Amino acid sequence: MQNKYGDKINQLLSKMTLDEKVGQLRQCGPSLAGAFSVSLEELLNMVYDGKMSGEELKKLLSEAKPDYHEEDLRAGRIGSYNGIAGAETLNALQRIAVEETRLGIPLLFGFDVLHGYRTITPIPLAESCAWDPELWEKTAIISAREASSAGIHMTYAPMVDVSRDARWGRVAEGAGEDPYLVSCFGAAKVRGFQGDDLNRPDVLAACAKHFAGYGAAEAGRDYNRVDMSMARFHEEILPPFAACIRAGVRGIMPAFNDLNGVPCTADRWLLTELLRETLGFDGMTISDANAIAELVDHGLATDREDAARLAIEAGVDMDMTSDVYHENIAGLVSRGTLPESLLDRAVSRILQIKYELGLFDNPYRTTVQREGESILLPQYREVAGEAAEKSMVLLKNEGILPLPEEARLCLVGCLLASRGEMTGTWAISARDEDCVSVLDACEGRNIPYAYASGADSGELEKAVADSDVILVGMGELKSQSGEGASRADLSIPTQQMAVLDQLLAFGKPVVVVLFNGRPLAIPELREKAPCVLEAWHPGVEAGNAIVRLLFGEVNPSGRLTMTFPHSAGQCPAYYAHIRTGRPAGKSRFTSKYLDVPVEPVYPFGYGLSYTTFAYSDMRCTVSDQDLLIKVVVGNTGNVDGDEIVQCYFSAPATSRVRPTRQLVAFQRVSLKAKEHKTVSLEIPRRQLGYHDRGMNYRECSGSILFTIGDAMHDRIHLEIDL
Ligand code: BGC
Repeated sequence: MQNKYGDKINQLLSKMTLDEKVGQLRQCGPSLAGAFSVSLEELLNMVYDGKMSGEELKKLLSEAKPDYHEEDLRAGRIGSYNGIAGAETLNALQRIAVEETRLGIPLLFGFDVLHGYRTITPIPLAESCAWDPELWEKTAIISAREASSAGIHMTYAPMVDVSRDARWGRVAEGAGEDPYLVSCFGAAKVRGFQGDDLNRPDVLAACAKHFAGYGAAEAGRDYNRVDMSMARFHEEILPPFAACIRAGVRGIMPAFNDLNGVPCTADRWLLTELLRETLGFDGMTISDANAIAELVDHGLATDREDAARLAIEAGVDMDMTSDVYHENIAGLVSRGTLPESLLDRAVSRILQIKYELGLFDNPYRTTVQREGESILLPQYREVAGEAAEKSMVLLKNEGILPLPEEARLCLVGCLLASRGEMTGTWAISARDEDCVSVLDACEGRNIPYAYASGADSGELEKAVADSDVILVGMGELKSQSGEGASRADLSIPTQQMAVLDQLLAFGKPVVVVLFNGRPLAIPELREKAPCVLEAWHPGVEAGNAIVRLLFGEVNPSGRLTMTFPHSAGQCPAYYAHIRTGRPAGKSRFTSKYLDVPVEPVYPFGYGLSYTTFAYSDMRCTVSDQDLLIKVVVGNTGNVDGDEIVQCYFSAPATSRVRPTRQLVAFQRVSLKAKEHKTVSLEIPRRQLGYHDRGMNYRECSGSILFTIGDAMHDRIHLEIDL
């Protein structure tokens, strides 16, 4: 071992028995074994079959006493736990590891903190629409402070899967369709979670996932195959992981899917050659949940023992909850089928993270008191509010917004009254009562309002009668996005559209507030609704942020980071498509569909404001390493606002076909009414190159076109010769 802790790790390794080494690779979840006479899977099936309600199951689970496998822990057979939080519980488990095991090696506690621990911020897809690396870092710092106070050491985040297919439910967890934007997001999150010293008790080790290609699952169906050229893989999938590694990420989680026929969990080329030897990653890998066992289901491993061998040989260090390593590695090593050096390699990497986190010196990084003092602080809520405001995207506004101060509102639809629905997917530790619904926000600010669920026409008519403006909440429930939530139909349910028709018939201004974890197919909504605010799943400060935007206390500034298609049939829909020989045009024999328009409903980069912006004086200076683009951006309207300056480039003819345009730089700029600013965008030349079919990196040369605007609308452009 070359690193700072190499000697300590080697000394410790030399004292460890085979079982103790295998124990370090084993991550357990709390199991409810023994609490019921049937397995958890059977219980879930009872809910699916209607034999038990979700609520009944929830109650049963909350009353069950979790089993932490303490006997195994005492025997040194567990190195880590997944999905448990709380200073008291985690410190008690840590005490067993440190005081009651033979070698006293501390445990590592991992948890999914994707967009907040208790101060839930907008889902990552939403937060990416803020185009604001400083904000991305700030929210990660809050996540780290809260989660570490609850005893957590590592978060399985950021999720940096480039996602171009809105059918895939997990698009909610990442930063959208563009490799450059996702890279900036991932790096900012790693900086925020980890800080500059992992030894500090208020930071988390980050674990970027899912390595790699998961976002390209065929047809947007979760866990499905991924089959793509290596050149495409290098240009569209890898950059965000490379960016996280450059930012020092300490963990990488291999993806569930296979990549060109080899499940990532067993891909030595991916996890060792590419990840470590080429990209220079020097942290630990942890499998996805049960993924090692699933190598058998993939049809790659003959049985669980074979799965253990394949995964550890490929470079998977820790086994998340499948117990395949625990059951098989010692036997494989004793029989000489697996070199002990491979086991030592995995153990060393895990010990290294434990040393880096300072766990050997300070295994209890938190106390119950610190936890109590660190959750949902007012300053955290403030940042969550800022994030929600910056994440929301004004999609349409026919002169209705901002609302006059005295407007009386009619709130329609349970999404406007719901607290729990505001958090979105992967908010495991969220509590409904922490969230502010739109209804709560109206209450809190003394805004006159009436509420109707929309189910009863009489109730609705009454509520509308006493109001000036109708707000209607539409879209998806949080359970409709996230893991295992792929959808084949992305349209708004007919019942919701029927309520909208009914509301429009009243002849009063109608504002649609959309709550969703993915782009939806909303051509009809765009036609009918005079005003649409995309709120996503905005987190604990949802209602306050929505109300501030609607009344113009804050000017909307979010811009979409994923294309909104006309229908699911258009998926994957993304702006940076490859040039074809027959670009879509009027002729039938061009690349398009007969039954939907060529242009998406709303493109990547799109979003409205209460003011207008104009660009001028675009210039470029070229040096050996970089290009520097300068442009003047002005706020031409009467209110202050933030513009997202987006710079795209189109490459000249090359030996491999390239996208029509690609994002290469962006900047969020705040401009007072009538103010002008010069914005400088630095673009490393390396960012413009590409891989040829033989996977050689080629520099970009020739005549390049830069445009500033969103992905569909040019505002200003400049051609340069490189
Ligand atoms: C997900 C991961 C997550 C893990 C642990 C898996 O099902 O794919 O993203 O980190 O569970 O909760």
